[in-house]
Amino acid sequence: MPVPSTGPLTTVVPYDTVTELGDNLCHITRRRRQNIFWLIQTMIRCAFLLVIIVASNAFVLQKNFNAINKFALPVVPGGNGDGPLGKPKGISGEFNNFAAHQPTLDKNRNQDPWVQQRQRPRRNRKSEIVRGLVRENIVTAKDFIYPLFIHDADHKEEISSMPGCFRHSMKTMLEEVEEAMTYGVGCFILFPKVPDNLKTNYAEEAYNPNGIVPRALALIKSKFPNAIVCTDIALDPYSSQGHDGVVKDGKILNDITIMQLQKQAVMQARAGSDVVAPSDMMDGRIGAVRDALDAEGFTDVSILAYTAKYASAYYGPFRDALDSHPGFGDKKTYQQDPANGREALIEAALDVAEGADMLMVKPGMPYLDIIYRLREATNLPIAAYHVSGEYAMLKAAAQKGWLDERKAVMEAMTCFKRAGTDVILTYYAKQAAKWIAEEGGQLNLNKK
Ligand code: PBG
Repeated sequence: MPVPSTGPLTTVVPYDTVTELGDNLCHITRRRRQNIFWLIQTMIRCAFLLVIIVASNAFVLQKNFNAINKFALPVVPGGNGDGPLGKPKGISGEFNNFAAHQPTLDKNRNQDPWVQQRQRPRRNRKSEIVRGLVRENIVTAKDFIYPLFIHDADHKEEISSMPGCFRHSMKTMLEEVEEAMTYGVGCFILFPKVPDNLKTNYAEEAYNPNGIVPRALALIKSKFPNAIVCTDIALDPYSSQGHDGVVKDGKILNDITIMQLQKQAVMQARAGSDVVAPSDMMDGRIGAVRDALDAEGFTDVSILAYTAKYASAYYGPFRDALDSHPGFGDKKTYQQDPANGREALIEAALDVAEGADMLMVKPGMPYLDIIYRLREATNLPIAAYHVSGEYAMLKAAAQKGWLDERKAVMEAMTCFKRAGTDVILTYYAKQAAKWIAEEGGQLNLNKK
């Protein structure tokens, strides 16, 4: 019969039932007692386990404590209370914990903490002299091409988006060349600002033998015969459309443009250009310019090809300088898509086959991967164009006091070399050459 679970105790029940009830109650009490034994037993087991865990941890802690003890806490009598790690005297629980969680931390014969490590790259960085021994890339003034903006005026004019860069008059251009040469810069490239009334769709001014570029070229060569002067091949400074080619129905014509570029190249070679630098990105222009130069006997005039020139927002300040913003649209139908890397290899293969002497990547810093890819793909010298926008960014941050200009610029130059660049075209050329000269002719990134 089941145990009555409800109802008042005073309920009268028959004798038999009472006896049965008593038996059942005894049974329940026995079970409870068993349960309590089980509980006590379990608690004892747990306590035992806990003791084992605590003991083993204490052993590990003690081991690590011994390892760091000497290192962390020499007690300096009368000291200011700081240990060598800036920790207060005495073992701080925090530091102790730190050590306990470094499974690799051991101790050496002197009881100093020791990471068992044979290769320690820091050994090759331990002093400037050691760093000098192992330095892989060094920037020199001889790596630079210095771009110069020129205009037909009797004064120089600062370019507002490129502080420290000017549109030079013939006179100030010569002064700038002279100064740069005293710091070891030997190579220049000219970019002309042309008045609007000389701009046309066919950009005939580009091959005017009395134009500003041939005049400036002749002047520099007559005063500084050892200087190497490069000239830009492209129609944009002379184009009424603000494009690098002849425009028809809103399209940039490739082959007609190349005819104009050939005339421009030959005119520049006649005026004494050492290196022509086609920056237009028309297909086939390197071969066409090479043929035109060779046909006229200018086999010694080099071609610095703008091999991978990207349709970049970083050209903004340059276009301010020359007043050469595109008259309509953008330059995406001839300059490369910044999203593309492999495409640069197609351009490079063509330029090599067509007779380029050097291959240029432009812009520079955001395209170090392209420089590296070209470096792997060709044995020709590689140039990087550190463009106007890159210059402007560094200048602006420096002017705001947000960057150390000298260190940031020299780092950028070194990174070009590391990526595989031989030649660096930069508006910082004169300044960087001066900094290098101040270092005794060698870059020292670690100078205080
Ligand atoms: C044009 C040309 C450009 C630059 C050099 N040549 C601008 C452009 O393609 O629109 C830019 C250089 C710089 O930003 O410093 N042929």
